[in-house]
Amino acid sequence: MQTRPLIRLLYVSRAAGPQTGTVSTSILSVAQTNNRKNGITGVLCQGQGLYLQVLEGQRSAVNQLYAAILNDKRHHDVELLQLEEITTRRYPDWSMAHVELSDQDLMIRMNHPDFDPYTASGSTVMQLLTALVSSGDRLTMPPA
Ligand SMILES: Cc1cc2nc3c(=O)[nH]c(=O)nc-3n(C[C@H](O)[C@H](O)[C@H](O)COP(=O)(O)O)c2cc1C
Repeated sequence: MQTRPLIRLLYVSRAAGPQTGTVSTSILSVAQTNNRKNGITGVLCQGQGLYLQVLEGQRSAVNQLYAAILNDKRHHDVELLQLEEITTRRYPDWSMAHVELSDQDLMIRMNHPDFDPYTASGSTVMQLLTALVSSGDRLTMPPA
């Protein structure tokens, strides 16, 4: 049987309001339930008024979810940073892991004081995110 193409997508967005625990809990609980059903895995990173999210899965499922995310009023300025076809998932076991960014993450801790995901290259943002996730700080990983 031919397997369907898998893709990995990375975007950045600005939170519409304060990134409170209530907002993130409601986004994450729906995300984790839906993603398990739809074979989506990834990471949602939030803080500093931003969301950075990696979505992995079958191309049609990722496209459908991204279309819903683009229309979600809880954030704006959604900008696609990277899209690649993949053969293996980076986060096969996480329906949507969650990372809280501190005020220093990405920018200072990673030695990128001027770091701005809206102007940096997609591959740089992906690398920083990957490093942040593998450091394990403030990471919560619900199973896929
Ligand atoms: C930053 C952000 C990340 C989101 N991530 C996901 C996700 O990974 N999976 C998901 O199903 N919905 C996610 N959502 C919610 C979707 O935009 C949308 O509300 C949801 O998919 C609708 O689900 P429903 O049709 O079951 O109500 C996210 C929303 C925001 C603001």
